[in-house]
Amino acid sequence: MNNIINKQRRTLLKYAGITAATAGICPNLLFAMDSSKGNRHASANFHPDVEIELTQQTAQISIMPGAKTRIWKITGKVLKGSQATVQNLPGTYLGPTLHLHKGQKVRIYLRNKLPAQSILHWHGLHVPADMDGNPMYAIGSGETYVYEFEVLNRAGTYWYHAHTHGLTAKQVYSGLAGLFIVSDDEEQALGLPGGEYDIPIVIQDRSFDKRNQLAYSNHMMQRMQGFLGNHILINGQPDFVLPVATRAYRLRLLNGSNSRIYKLAWDDGTPITVIGVDGGLLERPEKYPYVMLAPAERREIWVDFSGRDIGSELTMRSVSFASSSHGMMGGGMMGGRRGGMMGGGRMGGRGGMMGGMMSGSAVPLGSDYPVLKIRVDRKTGDNDSLPHRLTPINQLQINNAVNAGSPRRITLSMRHMSALLNGRSYKMNDVKADEIIPVNTLQLMEFDNGFHRGMHGMMAMPHPMHLHGEQFQIVKRQVNSRGTSTYKTVSAGFVDNGWKDTVLVMPGEKVTILKPFNDFKGMFMYHCHNLEHEDMGMMRDFLIK
Ligand code: C2O
Ligand code: CU
Ligand code: CU
Repeated sequence: MNNIINKQRRTLLKYAGITAATAGICPNLLFAMDSSKGNRHASANFHPDVEIELTQQTAQISIMPGAKTRIWKITGKVLKGSQATVQNLPGTYLGPTLHLHKGQKVRIYLRNKLPAQSILHWHGLHVPADMDGNPMYAIGSGETYVYEFEVLNRAGTYWYHAHTHGLTAKQVYSGLAGLFIVSDDEEQALGLPGGEYDIPIVIQDRSFDKRNQLAYSNHMMQRMQGFLGNHILINGQPDFVLPVATRAYRLRLLNGSNSRIYKLAWDDGTPITVIGVDGGLLERPEKYPYVMLAPAERREIWVDFSGRDIGSELTMRSVSFASSSHGMMGGGMMGGRRGGMMGGGRMGGRGGMMGGMMSGSAVPLGSDYPVLKIRVDRKTGDNDSLPHRLTPINQLQINNAVNAGSPRRITLSMRHMSALLNGRSYKMNDVKADEIIPVNTLQLMEFDNGFHRGMHGMMAMPHPMHLHGEQFQIVKRQVNSRGTSTYKTVSAGFVDNGWKDTVLVMPGEKVTILKPFNDFKGMFMYHCHNLEHEDMGMMRDFLIK
């Protein structure tokens, strides 16, 4: 095993043309990486402002009433710097929320005490290739990986999660994920709601068996569609109710689900005010009737409860949409089956907000169900007002792309038991000529989900496409005639302004983006963030050189 890893690492170094000098790491370190058992050690010439330790281990916690649930838990500890950097979350499987400021240099000791290989990836962060948690850096049980990087990103709601070859879906599902919140001076000067009025909302679905254990099935239907659970959890908790005061809040929504896509709307018809997306704040607030939230995407929203009565409630629901134009997978068929399942299921057994959903079977994708319940429970006099302008965004220009006339096309397809990018399945260290990108270039790219070739039967599915490294911008969306009816059920909820690292590509759609590849050479992944698709092979590496 270790031999394989070391061989892969040597191959990578050869491929990437990385020398100790270009990678910006000391020769000792390179030697250590190549000869140790997957450990990466601290480097003597990196001087961290903050040092933290993240330990991954098995644990048991109470999630559902009754028996405890076995989970995989990350716990954090500050070794140097402010204690506020790491906020452990005891009652949930979620890892600690990390709070960092732009410009801080951070060293993270990842200690793997799980009975499995693992590695963590900093989703949305612009870090060097060997700090990015590529699966080739997975460490075994008992090993430590030391990350060292400067936080270059602007303020925003980023996150981290396991990225282990073939096991990402299961490991994230078991608990290996958490938030990575970055602040900066520009954002702080805006005076947005802070402290207890700035609340992360991590939305995930899980299934529990009769003994309250996390259930995860590997059968083909589930892998093709992606995992869909029977409970919606907020910050790792079922039946979550958020108590609020009569004032404005900043809610940071992350879809941390393996595959579930949400179409979020307030149940009283209030528009959703979006102030930020994956890569931080927008230029100005934007109002939507509903917002789409695909796996790994973030939306920061502003919601003001002033003027609402004490005791009143507001619910964010996921409202119905179509996810496949053929009705073979997703919305259509699953929606149709719902009634039957509910008849025979253990309905309402657990009561509370999810009581109306069946507890035995999956909540169908694209059906209508509550996600987040909010209760106004106290009065407060102070409030913040929504700024008209948030933060300026440097608009990328197509003319500045090195390939302005010939976008790099990435076709998305599913066939038998595989999910493919440009017809290829994931393989470690398998960079093809069209996957080599010169460093410090701006690239025009398009994700083609059947726009050119037309769709084939049940294989047309939505894919949330993610690129590692720097954030990108969405240039345009086009949909073909076969995808139009599906598309119309979701398109008013795309928030396409601002900086993005994940974009939902619907069946029959082509999405064009501008993606910068600055500063760092080496391997950076691109993949579908439906984690079952990712593990089925819908993932590749770009080699930046
Ligand atoms: Cu959030 Cu490569 O992933
Ligand atoms: Cu990522
Ligand atoms: Cu996919």
